[in-house]
Amino acid sequence: MYRIAPSILSANFARLGEEITQVIASGADWIHFDVMDNHYVPNLTIGPLVCEAIRPVTQATIDVHLMVKPVDRIIPDFARAGANVITFHPEGSEHIDRSLGLIRESGCQAGLVFNPATPLHYMDHVMDKLDVVLLMSVNPGFGGQKFIPETLNKLRAARDRIDAYEAKTGRRILLEIDGGVKVDNIAEIARAGADTFVAGSAVFGAGKDGDPNRYDSVIRALRAELATVGA
Ligand code: DX5
Ligand code: ZN
Repeated sequence: MYRIAPSILSANFARLGEEITQVIASGADWIHFDVMDNHYVPNLTIGPLVCEAIRPVTQATIDVHLMVKPVDRIIPDFARAGANVITFHPEGSEHIDRSLGLIRESGCQAGLVFNPATPLHYMDHVMDKLDVVLLMSVNPGFGGQKFIPETLNKLRAARDRIDAYEAKTGRRILLEIDGGVKVDNIAEIARAGADTFVAGSAVFGAGKDGDPNRYDSVIRALRAELATVGA
């Protein structure tokens, strides 16, 4: 019903494989993989090589969030590297419909990402090509930022569009949220309509590095909060 997707942006990259094994063993569902290019966003992270390296470490869904421009060139590389879900920002593509098609043709699930100021209408004419809608609740580029409260209104609006589409077609599109998700706000975010939750600093920042129990307790706390949300 709800998916928790720790963002490895806040993991210890010196021991990334172990971090992934541990976070999945602690009950996480997806691995959120943030790709930044120092062009579309003012930071530089990891590429297909790292995705390929972690692929054998886990069976979990690898959720690749592309904060890059242009986006098309790199899509097949991530598909080959073992990505399951690939999302991108409409501002990163000259042809949104074509980029979504390219992701699906590469064998992955496709999604669009909306920055805090990016209007939702970008999804209107491509619903059939969407598997995931991702709303940014911070401006992309860095982990550890504060959740922007206006995102709750935007989530409700996105939920309405997705529900209307599902009622008409029977096809489900996931609604994912990314940025500043914590134990103390996840329930409110779920009530606004999100079903998939990226959490970077909240998960990887929990407890002391090297403590195998540190992810269990934070993921349990996130799920306990989600359990308070009525269907
Ligand atoms: C921000 C990234 C996020 C980030 C979330 O540009 O897309 O995935 O890692 O980190 P937290 O949960 O710390 O806000
Ligand atoms: Zn992300």
